[in-house]
Amino acid sequence: MSFTEKANRVLRFLSGHRRPKTAAVILAAGLGTRLKDPGSRTKQLLTLEGKPLFMHSVLAFDASPYIDEMVLVVRKEEFREIRRTLKGYKLKKPLRLTVGGDTRQASARRGLDAISDKMEYIAVHDAARCLITPAMIADVVTAAHASRAASAGTPVTDTVKQISKDGYVEKTIDRSTLYRAQTPQVFECKLYRAATYVALEKKQAVTDDNMLVELLGQTVKMVDCGSENIKVTTKEDLALARIILRARTN
Ligand code: CTP
Ligand code: MG
Repeated sequence: MSFTEKANRVLRFLSGHRRPKTAAVILAAGLGTRLKDPGSRTKQLLTLEGKPLFMHSVLAFDASPYIDEMVLVVRKEEFREIRRTLKGYKLKKPLRLTVGGDTRQASARRGLDAISDKMEYIAVHDAARCLITPAMIADVVTAAHASRAASAGTPVTDTVKQISKDGYVEKTIDRSTLYRAQTPQVFECKLYRAATYVALEKKQAVTDDNMLVELLGQTVKMVDCGSENIKVTTKEDLALARIILRARTN
């Protein structure tokens, strides 16, 4: 258990507050075009250290004491296979399977529609971030419970340059103010639902869920989850994910 997690438990105990009910929506309905060879399996189904890639996230959320239920968003074509795989695991939490949409944003909306009414917070997570741990989940969820919206992220370590259209460096951006956004991104359900409606109405495309609530003027607390919480996008990422997972078990 991380220090933040322990501190939050103590604070909750002292104040007599119960923990808000929180659902995890795990997105695994992509095509994985940047990783797979044409015709081969999508990245969520690839085996990583003995388990399909999507299962790593499912098991991390299942093990988290901050999560009450899970929704796994999948492609229609993979629904049966994933349902069969899930039957081989004894999960502690209820898990609902639902079919995703053509874009990540559409899949996230389907996930939101599938969580139960009593949920107060939603943790949206990319199954492609298969190195997520219960400790990281705890840190982001507790930060969201304290401030309505929080995101996993990691500080930028490279020197970042702004360049002109023809490729010349214009200036150096102050790195100390920059973070790379990761998932999970966790929001109060009411806030997230309102934000998705507004984006839908304005036909506003977003690249992550934080952007949705940023558009409503809500601040998002950034939580440093370190550099291991990578997104598997390319073959190189998959190789790196294997190395990190092996190092954790040794
Ligand atoms: N995702 C989804 N539904 C979509 C597109 C993406 O649920 N229509 C999910 C992916 O399964 C992944 C996460 O969103 O877990 C982040 O997307 P990305 O890494 O871009 O995965 P893919 O879209 O599958 O890969 P690519 O963009 O290379 O095709
Ligand atoms: Mg994609």
